[in-house]
Amino acid sequence: MLTLAGVVGFPVGHSRSPAMMAAALGELGLDWRYVRLPLPPERFADAVAALGASGYLGVNVTVPHKLAALELADSASSTARAIGAANTLTFRDGAIEAENTDAGGFVAALDEDPRGREALVLGAGGAARAVAWALREAGAEVGIWNRTASRAADLAGALEVEHVERPTACALVVNTTSVGLDPAVAEQDALVAVGLGGLEAPTTFVDLVYGEHPTALERWAARGGARVVGGLEVLVRQGALSLELWSGRGAPVEVMRAAVGAPDPGDGRIPG
Ligand code: ATR
Repeated sequence: MLTLAGVVGFPVGHSRSPAMMAAALGELGLDWRYVRLPLPPERFADAVAALGASGYLGVNVTVPHKLAALELADSASSTARAIGAANTLTFRDGAIEAENTDAGGFVAALDEDPRGREALVLGAGGAARAVAWALREAGAEVGIWNRTASRAADLAGALEVEHVERPTACALVVNTTSVGLDPAVAEQDALVAVGLGGLEAPTTFVDLVYGEHPTALERWAARGGARVVGGLEVLVRQGALSLELWSGRGAPVEVMRAAVGAPDPGDGRIPG
């Protein structure tokens, strides 16, 4: 039977994972096929349960299914359970195993030790939860700010980190909001929208938003001297971890980066 893997989402047409994974599988000489699986929420559980019997080794899971993925799995890693969401499912011996590689992918993309450093997470959705959890586990002093303060307070309470009502300058800032997704947004408007108006740039800035590169917030951070890590690097790293889980082999990160058009973090290019 053909070995299959894929990405499940709704919509999933825009996903860069198929290009990234096809390049990686080619580089590893693995004759698998990686496909897009658009599944509306009402079909998710039944359709995914059937994949294991149809030659699928595993699937990546994206919006809006990450919570449902954890719920339907027969077992889950402690990371996936702590975050309350799974982005990777593995079909093994008739059972479904859930993992969350968003957290590990973020830490790998960050490529520095955040232990003891002040880290500000902007946003309070699912991405913020994975990032804040990963930073807390890595020993950072985590604060969460969000436009809707009650959501930040709830998330900070659940993770036992600080709720930030008014951001101040900080060593590490991570944008998990969708601000900057619109390439036409003015830098100043983007800064004000995420509570950073009038603040100095951090030492390291991570923007989970990708698409138009650099984003307005990345331009601001780079101009202020920050080391900037883009969302594509985080995408590559979470995909690399999923592939390693399924194949038991090291993922060809450079090939995956090239396939999604992510800049090489070592090449010293400053966005903007
Ligand atoms: P995900 O699960 O993908 O992280 P989400 O739950 O839709 O996404 O959350 C999106 C985040 O972007 C939220 O923190 C949201 O803030 P609110 O909780 O106040 O809605 C934030 N966000 C979206 N648009 C924003 C804007 N224009 N200004 C500031 N924050 C914004």
